[in-house]
Formats: sequence, structure tokens, C-alpha cells
Amino acid sequence: MTLPHDLSPVTLSKRFPPSFQWGVATAAFQVEGASREDGKGESIWDRFCAQPGVIADASNGDIACDHYHRLDADLDLIASLGLDVYRFSISWPRVQPLGQGAWNEKGLDFYERLVDGLLKRGVRPCLTLNHWDLPQALQDEGGWNDRNTVHHFVDYARGINRRLGDRLAMLTTHNEPWVIAVLGHEQGIFAPGIRSRRVALQVSHHLLLSHGLAVQALRADGGCGNLGIVLNLGHVEPASDEPEDHKAADRGCAWGRRWYLDPLFKGQYPAGLIDELGADAPTIMDGDLKAISAPIDHLGVNYYTRSVFRAASPFDVKTSGLPLTDMGWEIYPRGLTELLCWLHREYPMPAIWITENGAAFDDPVEDGRVHDSRRVAYLQNHIAAVATALEREVPVAGYMVWSLLDNFEWASGYAKRFGIVHVDYTNLERTPKDSALWVRELMQAVTQMRQRVTPRLASGSGD
Ligand code: FCB
Repeated sequence: MTLPHDLSPVTLSKRFPPSFQWGVATAAFQVEGASREDGKGESIWDRFCAQPGVIADASNGDIACDHYHRLDADLDLIASLGLDVYRFSISWPRVQPLGQGAWNEKGLDFYERLVDGLLKRGVRPCLTLNHWDLPQALQDEGGWNDRNTVHHFVDYARGINRRLGDRLAMLTTHNEPWVIAVLGHEQGIFAPGIRSRRVALQVSHHLLLSHGLAVQALRADGGCGNLGIVLNLGHVEPASDEPEDHKAADRGCAWGRRWYLDPLFKGQYPAGLIDELGADAPTIMDGDLKAISAPIDHLGVNYYTRSVFRAASPFDVKTSGLPLTDMGWEIYPRGLTELLCWLHREYPMPAIWITENGAAFDDPVEDGRVHDSRRVAYLQNHIAAVATALEREVPVAGYMVWSLLDNFEWASGYAKRFGIVHVDYTNLERTPKDSALWVRELMQAVTQMRQRVTPRLASGSGD
């Protein structure tokens, strides 16, 4: 009999179907560097980082992990882990410097080499179109607050799909529209640094609309047949059993989760929220919600922690004494099972992918090793939480670790390290951490399990 606390690769691997897909994720701005090379245009994150005081260590994405120049070595690293899929994003201004009009062949060529290099190594590419680095030229015309950006995004999506779509395992439109809207346009702590609730709400609507219109256009065009969007979804809880705290948690859920999920899966914003907004309500045109709710093939879920709400300030609390990661986020794997079961109950959908899950811890390199045992435990417990959701019949199709490499963690700069591979920023040397070795062991166990269960699938002829 298997003990529930046995988190070894062999035991964990047996809790997943052979078709379950395993991967790691990165995003263009966080790893590529080469911010002004080969015709790349400026992005809103390039511009934002240049402002004093906005990035904790006053850094930027100019060099990052230098992935742009180290592509082959990084692809070898991914392949060495034995993973099925790799999630990356395209820098829109690298391929279309002004966000409309002319394409940049050198930029497109980089992503061609990335996609083909993955396939050559037996890893299937999962592409995100927008992981936040909007072309600055579009921001100068109003950015996501301007409805024209929606149409430019659809053109960009079509161009990329035409070029790469038939070689992708998955294509997602946006990464975490909540973060773009709220952190970028309401709190102003992420690019483009705007502070306006009205703008943030309009931006969230335009992001959803551009997603839906892009999905419709890509369906008509053909190409990638696995289309979706990625949301940041935490587990939501009240701080106590008091009815007021329950109400606060419901509001947290409504603004953080349902504001995005309801339009995508039910074709409407949550009842009551629009009325409550008064003059801050976004402009919504006829047909927008129908477009937003165009059927998708998967929902990507980025899960890191839970949010505990209460009625009195501070509204979002850490109450329990649970261990925290370097981001100050509570480690709460059970929340991932609960979130997945809640999603499955509330929003029936064909497939859920965990598109990001991971932890920031800063462990030193010692004799060529990094003993990041806290990250290993984090991954083990969260993967076990996914297995439990699968056992409860939630259709989870894949799991990706955030992140392959330590990288530029947005407003936190380089101090917060999420990688399963350590990056020494003085010489950009990569050192696989114990967590990377653990992932490799997990993949060896997965391969053995596949060989036992379905020899055809394991030999690569099964999809
Ligand atoms: C997510 C982002 C990703 C990374 C992780 C830690 O919100 O999508 O780029 O920064 O958080």
C-alpha cells in the first residue's frame, strides 16, 4: 500500500495518467535580455524599468539570463530534464517592433529556432502571446486602455499562428490579465505604472476581448488546435467563520477570479459587480461578451498561494503561521486541490493546465550544487495536490514548474529566485539545483510508468 506522505518520484508518477504532460515555464522579458538587439522594439517593461525607484534592485531586462544568446545551451538544459513541454512567451516588440505593421524577421527567426530546437529535442512548445511586454509604441497610443490595441493583438496573434501554430502543443493568449490590469493600471507597481481604477477595468475588458477575438480568428485560420488563456488563481478563504469575513472572501473571489472566469465561461460579468462600479464601469460593446466566451480548449492556471480575506483592515491577512517563500507567500498546497475542485464545479471546461507553480528561495551554490530542499518539498507537495484533484476527477492535463531559470522577477528584480536552475548573474553560469535533479528523477519515473502502462505512448508514437 502507498502511504499518502510518500512523495518519491516513483510513487508520485503512478498517481498520474501516462498522457499527463510535464514541463517548465519562462517568459520572454524575464530571461531573454538582448533588449535592443536585432531590431527589437521597446516594450513597456523596458520603459518602466528605466524609471527610478520602481524595481527593487534598480535592475532591468537588458541582459536578464541572456537566453537570447544562449538558446541552444538552454534548450539542451530543458531536454536534459526529460520534460514533455516547455512554456515560453514571445516578446511582441521583438517580432513586431511597433506592435502593428512591419514584422521583424530576425525576431521571428529567434522563435523559429526556439520552436524547432525544442521539437528536435523531443520537447513540445507551449507559446504565450502576451506575458506583459506590450510594445511601447502601442502604449504611446493608449495601450490596453485603447480598443485599437485589441485589433492589433488579433493581427499579431494571427501572424504568429501562421508562422508557428502548426508546431505548437498549446497557444495561450494572455498571461494573467488580472496582474496587467490591477498591478499595471490600478496600483501602478508594474508596467506601465498607471494608477486609475477606471482604466484598470477597461484594460481588463480589452484583454478579455482581445483573447476572445484572437481565439475566433485562430480557429478560422487553423494552425494550433489547443487554444486558451492563463489566469492567476489563488485559493480564497475567509479569515474566520464570521459572516462579515465570509462576505469579504466572496468579494475577493468575485474581483480576483469571477471577474475573469464568468465572462470567459458564462459570457457575462458577475451579477451586481458592473452596477456597483458606477462611473468606473468599463465600456462594453454589443457582441463583446459573446466573443470573450468563444470556446477554448484549456484554461491555464498559475497557482502559488492562498488569499485569506477579512472584513477589517488589513483585508488580506496572513494568519496561520504557515511557512512563507521569499515572496512572503504562504505555502499552502492543499489550496491547489481545493482551487481545482472549485473550478471544475463552477466552470466546466475541457482541460486545465497548471501553467505555473513554484517558489522563490535563495540557496547558495556550494561545490557546484544548490541544496534547495524547500523548493523540492514545495514541488512535491503541490504535485501531490494536483494528483488528489485528478483522483477527484478534475480534468488536469499538465503541470509546469515556474521557472526553468532564476530570472528577472518584475518589480522585485533579480533577488527573488524561482529557478530550478541557478543563474550566477556575474557570469550567467547555470547550475541545476537539487530541484532540477528531482524533476529529472520524476521524469525518469514517469517514463518507466509509461513504458509499463502504454508502451506505444512511451515510444512517442501515441499522440
Ligand atoms: C507570475 C508571473 C511569472 C512570475 C511568477 C512568479 O505572476 O506570471 O512571470 O513572475 O508570477
